[in-house]
Amino acid sequence: MTEPANSSSGSPVCRVAFLGLGVMGYPMAGHLAKASLDVTVYNRTHAKAEQWVAEHGGKSARTPREAASKADLWLACLGNDDDLCSITLGDDSAFAGMTQGTAFVDHTTASANVARELAEIADARGLAFVDAPVSGGQAGAQNGKLTIMCGGATDVFEHVRATLDYYATAALIGPASAGKLAKMVNQICIAGLVQGLSEAINFGQLSGLNMPLVLDVIGKGTAAS
Ligand SMILES: NC(=O)c1ccc[n+]([C@@H]2O[C@H](COP(=O)([O-])OP(=O)(O)OC[C@H]3O[C@@H](n4cnc5c(N)ncnc54)[C@H](OP(=O)(O)O)[C@@H]3O)[C@@H](O)[C@H]2O)c1
Repeated sequence: MTEPANSSSGSPVCRVAFLGLGVMGYPMAGHLAKASLDVTVYNRTHAKAEQWVAEHGGKSARTPREAASKADLWLACLGNDDDLCSITLGDDSAFAGMTQGTAFVDHTTASANVARELAEIADARGLAFVDAPVSGGQAGAQNGKLTIMCGGATDVFEHVRATLDYYATAALIGPASAGKLAKMVNQICIAGLVQGLSEAINFGQLSGLNMPLVLDVIGKGTAAS
């Protein structure tokens, strides 16, 4: 096992399961394999899991539950709330197969409500749940330079953090759902900036200005951010 790229204290977990090999999950799981962790992957479309194993080694599982005996830490990056519930709840789900005392880290940009609900269900089963949405886009996932905003218990966060270090810099924001709420703050900031920029360009165009020139000039001033 190699040292994480983004250093924090603690030791990474050796056996991990990664669920959801989309644009983000595929390279994120790849960083764990490159670090020589024992990785089992699950993807709804199994062919993608087989492709990942052919590229990175490790193992693939047919259901989230199937990988349970092969992991001590669960990581997931899916599309939305419904996807997340479909792999955590039910007979073939991750929660059904996880060993008591182990943790599930969710990187999906999901709602704060689902994070609270899953944290409660996990707690009742003797499991831990950390909501951990990411920022940094596809390039951040590929380069292992994501930022992660986490919600959950401090001791659980410290336990999982060293593993997240392989593809991100993670921070604990607060208790369950705090990570999802911080991600919403992030999205509001981005949307606000894009809206402001759009309004400014529209104003300039309607005023007859040469906007490429204006943007070049103001981009060398305070608007450079
Ligand atoms: N892409 C970005 O730049 C970016 C940046 C920051 C955050 N995010 C967030 O990261 C998350 C993942 O994004 P992505 O771009 O990787 O999405 P994506 O490429 O669409 O991948 C979604 C993954 O979820 C799986 N999935 C969808 N529905 C499922 C279900 N019902 N049961 C089980 N698995 C299911 C898909 O499996 P299949 O292969 O079978 O479809 C796929 O592995 C999203 O919440 C997104 O908002 C994305």
